[in-house]
Amino acid sequence: MFKIALMDQSDLENAYKIEQESNPTPWSRNNFFSSFDVGHHSLICKANKELIGFIVFSVIKNESHLLNVAVIEKWRKKGAGSLLIESLIKQSKVLGAKKVFLEVRSKNLNAIKFYEKYNFVKDAIRANYYPGEYPDDAVLMSLDI
Ligand SMILES: CC(C)(COP(=O)(O)OP(=O)(O)OC[C@H]1O[C@@H](n2cnc3c(N)ncnc32)[C@H](O)[C@@H]1OP(=O)(O)O)[C@@H](O)C(=O)NCCC(=O)NCCS
Repeated sequence: MFKIALMDQSDLENAYKIEQESNPTPWSRNNFFSSFDVGHHSLICKANKELIGFIVFSVIKNESHLLNVAVIEKWRKKGAGSLLIESLIKQSKVLGAKKVFLEVRSKNLNAIKFYEKYNFVKDAIRANYYPGEYPDDAVLMSLDI
């Protein structure tokens, strides 16, 4: 049902819509678009021809950093997020990473459950990491790959 592909310039607009709908403090348009330009790895998930999710990560030496992931709300809980994170893990290994790191809002329990399903472990809490309208702590998680 789902297909994973490399994100293309022409996907950016639709991916950014998903980002705005999914994140209480979305990346700015400029950050989102320039993340693509600076060469972060970006994958998309399509259902039929519709772009329904994306994942962005960077690999530096033997560390992979999951920077952003989202699935359009009506398509959640159907396995698209799983395919995206499995693809990230596979590609990170190929690129030489030994560990994947991420930060997640402490109140984002669904995402924390999602990461725990993939055996990510909680390493630390960064207090008051997210400022602004939706203040929150960050949970730092990692996975040996
Ligand atoms: C986190 C997110 C990407 C998961 O995508 P998804 O397509 O819904 O994930 P999947 O359907 O592949 O779910 C895989 C597993 O994650 C867990 N999970 C996902 N959503 C969950 C929810 N709402 N409640 C509890 N567990 C959940 C379950 O363990 C699930 O396995 P199961 O279906 O066997 O129970 C999606 O919920 C999302 O886009 N959230 C908003 C953006 C966000 O929070 N991003 C993370 C920022 S750090």
